[in-house]
Amino acid sequence: MRNSFIAGNWKMHKTPAESKALAAELVKGLSGCRHRLLVAPSFTALEAVASVVKGTNILLGAQNMAAEEEGAHTGETSVLMLKAIGVEAVILGHSERRHVYGETDDMINKKVKLALKHGLEVILCVGETLDEREAGNAETVVKNQTEAGLAGVSEAELAKVTIAYEPVWAIGTGKTATPEDADQIHKVTRAKISSLYSPAAAEKIIIQYGGSVKPDNAAQLMGMENIDGALVGGASLKAELFLPIAEYDK
Ligand code: PGA
Repeated sequence: MRNSFIAGNWKMHKTPAESKALAAELVKGLSGCRHRLLVAPSFTALEAVASVVKGTNILLGAQNMAAEEEGAHTGETSVLMLKAIGVEAVILGHSERRHVYGETDDMINKKVKLALKHGLEVILCVGETLDEREAGNAETVVKNQTEAGLAGVSEAELAKVTIAYEPVWAIGTGKTATPEDADQIHKVTRAKISSLYSPAAAEKIIIQYGGSVKPDNAAQLMGMENIDGALVGGASLKAELFLPIAEYDK
C-alpha cells in the first residue's frame, strides 16, 4: 500500500510571520496524522517556517529553484541556498511556472536532476490545459511531460520523486476533475513509469492530484486506486481547510 502524501503549496501568499503562524497551527493539528505531509511557503518565509516544522512530521518544500547551482542568475534561488536553510523537497514544473513563466520540459528536467543530485525530494507537476483536454490529448501531454521531466533520472533516484497530476483548467478555478477522470490519468501515468522503469517502480511511485482540492472532495479523490495524495493550493492557506484535507480519512 502506498502511503498518502498531502502537500500544501502556499504560492505567493503570506509574510514570514503569517507563514510561521500557519505552520504552527498545522504542526499542532497534524501531530497525529498518518499521512506524509509537506508545506511549501514562499522563499522569504522558508527560514521562518523551517524553525517551526523542524523535527515534526511536516516536511519543508520550496516552490521552485534555479536550474544551475550558482552563478550570474539575478533573481534566482539555488538548490544550495535551499538546502542550507533546511528545505527537504522542491515543487518543480508547476503549471504556473510552465505557462506563466515559460518553463520548458528541458528546463524542468535540468532542475529535477539538480535537486536529486543534491538529495532533495522532488514533486514533479504535470497536467494538460483545457485546449489539450478538449482536443483529446490529455493522456499524451501528461505522459510526455512525465517522460521529459524524468529523462536521465535513475530508478534509485525515482524513489525521491512524487508526481503531481494537476490539470491546468482545474487549478484555482473551483473545477475539479471527476475522481474517475483523474484516476484514469493517474493510471496512464503509472503505466508510463512502468514502461520507463519497472512495474515495481510504478507500484511504488506516489502520484498526487492537484486542482481545487477542498475538504469536501478530498476523500473521494484520494479514495481512487491510483490517487495517492494531493497537492493543495488555495485550501492550504487556512488551517481549518487544510487540516481536514490532510486527515481526509480520519
Ligand atoms: P488549487 O491549486 O488547489 O488552488 O487549485 C493547486 C496547485 O496549483 O497546486
